[in-house]
Amino acid sequence: MLNTLPQQPADALLALIKLHNEDPRADKIDLGVGVYRTGDGATPVFAAIKAAEKRLLETQDSKAYLGPEGDMGFVRALMPWVFGKANPTMDGRIDGMQTPGGTGGVRLAVALAKRAGVNRVLMGLPSWPNHAQIYADLGVELKGFNHAGKDGKVDMDALRAAIAEAQAGDAILLHGCCHNPTGIDYSHADWDEIAGLLAAKGLLPILDLAYQGLGQGMEEDAYGVRRVLAAVPEALIAYSCDKNFGMYRDRVGAVYVMVSDPAQLGAVLSNGYALARAAWSMPPDHGAAAVRLILEDEGLVKLWQGELDDMRARMNQVRARLAGAGHAGSIDLAPLGAQNGLFSVLPLSGEQILKLRNDHGIYMAGSGRINVAGLTMDNIGKFIADLGAVAA
Ligand code: LMR
Repeated sequence: MLNTLPQQPADALLALIKLHNEDPRADKIDLGVGVYRTGDGATPVFAAIKAAEKRLLETQDSKAYLGPEGDMGFVRALMPWVFGKANPTMDGRIDGMQTPGGTGGVRLAVALAKRAGVNRVLMGLPSWPNHAQIYADLGVELKGFNHAGKDGKVDMDALRAAIAEAQAGDAILLHGCCHNPTGIDYSHADWDEIAGLLAAKGLLPILDLAYQGLGQGMEEDAYGVRRVLAAVPEALIAYSCDKNFGMYRDRVGAVYVMVSDPAQLGAVLSNGYALARAAWSMPPDHGAAAVRLILEDEGLVKLWQGELDDMRARMNQVRARLAGAGHAGSIDLAPLGAQNGLFSVLPLSGEQILKLRNDHGIYMAGSGRINVAGLTMDNIGKFIADLGAVAA
């Protein structure tokens, strides 16, 4: 029977990691998968995480099972950061569970939505390619609309039209901040309008917050999520700590549920536990426990916040340098200065993307998405020059 399974292509984004690693050129540049890099091109473990891990090593006295919900201390310690310190549970209407990374959070959010009767998800395109793979795997239809226009601005008309045409049984997935892949986020005024439109239409929002703190700051990047939650009766929120705590391979995430009636919260979450049990039983503990230890300690919070500030400052420095270059050949780099987070999309053809890889050792996703954190003050000149030569 196994012989009947046809070969599947490797995940294009993850395959880039291997291709880049195997490239012997000393001046190669990795702008592929979304991993932060310092000005030296390294992805070190956060000092706050190292300190928390040390404490964990010294104090953890058991590795016995926790249950499908994972480390609830972690889940709850994150809530004031996501939903606001004033009322993090929205009067008992929000609670969550730990998941293996943000991907586990999205997977569980969509699976819960499906259990609740959702059969179609509206989503701005392009998006993170794994979103569509998760819908396909769960048998949920994707209804795409245009995320951003050629002018580099959010296409609010496309979003308004998609919401207007939505039907009962539809959900909508929105990136909370640092849109992947475009880096083009909704403004506060856009979020205000979106919150009103979603409430009026009765669409179920699925909010994916994978990069909180990498855009404008922890509080600023939560604006959209909080604005929507204040307007609608129910929602699902997928969260990732893999970027803002640098925990990538430790897979630290959560899914939160907001219901209209606090009495229903336990029943909804019990569906999450059942789905998790059948998929991964329970999430890996280590990373979430380390994040919890940080969030429980004022000193470690300060250390972590400083590290996050440094990340943001460096990405802004790279973006400013790119924007300041003006054009690279036919490519206008100016809009990159106003975009958020790790990613931007360059309008390159597949052929140009391959040429950059083969002739210049510059690796980027097939969509033209670049991870700006892959650029340093040492390699950015080469990047702009090579881009200009290929996109002349
Ligand atoms: C990315 O888009 O590069 C990251 O979210 C990593 C991933 O899992 O794809």
